[in-house]
Amino acid sequence: MSQAGGYVKAMADDGYLLELKNVSKSFGGLVALDGISYGVQKGEILGIIGPNGAGKTTLFNVITGEQKPTGGRVYLKGEDITGLPPDIICQKGMSRTFQLTFIFPEMTVFESVWIGVYSRFRRPWNLFFSRADRLGTVAEKALHIIRTVGLEQKMREIASNLSYGDQKVLEIAMALSTDPVMLLLDEPTQGVGPGEVDTIINLVERLSKEMSIILIEHDMDIVARLCHNVTVLSFGKTIARGSCEVVSQNEEVQRIYLGEKMVCS
Ligand SMILES: Nc1ncnc2c1ncn2[C@@H]1O[C@H](COP(=O)(O)OP(=O)(O)OP(=O)(O)O)[C@@H](O)[C@H]1O
Ligand SMILES: [Mg+2]
Repeated sequence: MSQAGGYVKAMADDGYLLELKNVSKSFGGLVALDGISYGVQKGEILGIIGPNGAGKTTLFNVITGEQKPTGGRVYLKGEDITGLPPDIICQKGMSRTFQLTFIFPEMTVFESVWIGVYSRFRRPWNLFFSRADRLGTVAEKALHIIRTVGLEQKMREIASNLSYGDQKVLEIAMALSTDPVMLLLDEPTQGVGPGEVDTIINLVERLSKEMSIILIEHDMDIVARLCHNVTVLSFGKTIARGSCEVVSQNEEVQRIYLGEKMVCS
């Protein structure tokens, strides 16, 4: 990674994987997002920080198609994906986890990941495989993902019996089942115990070698450890962006995070 003007470049001259142009979202009279523009490069981990209600989750909802923006455009690999349905955006390589963990509580770890992989292999262009071939491939792929996230010892366990940290890891595994190029993580360490936080940090670090990641995170130590660049939202507006070091020196950011440790080295 090289650094220019406080903004860390993941790969020189290698267009943006995700680009937002002037994205806005209003709920009635409430402006949740107000003209957000930025790009995420290949191999980048972008941190999104900001106080409660700043618009962070709404930004994810608009990027992934769960909510239509009121204005602006969203591009993935140069293609305009603004307002497309979430399943189509997901097929194009975007995957996410939720602030309130989304798992299937009655399913085992293996079944939860298997079903995501299966949904991808059911697509028409995979139908020329025999059913047995397809099921074998789906199982192998699910196992590979479970090993990648380190849940192989627990793959027969029911999801709701897992620790909260493991449930967060399972949700990431489920998000990986659609082979994303861009992964959006909404507070993946919230409510997770310290030992398991390290597991999630290590996982995010490893995954970033394969895909770009946007991370909504309140813990500044985690942001400083993981993120190449940071965008700070407040009342739906970007108030600062750049490397963690640059952002942490911004006066408005310091005012918002007064009393919290924000050390970037
Ligand atoms: N579906 C909705 N209808 C109406 N208002 C909404 C809706 N979703 C979000 N909002 C409002 O939009 C603003 C941004 O909410 P959002 O959930 O994006 O904030 P956030 O930055 O993710 O906050 P937090 O850190 O608490 O998760 C808030 O004022 C919220 O009340
Ligand atoms: Mg949120």
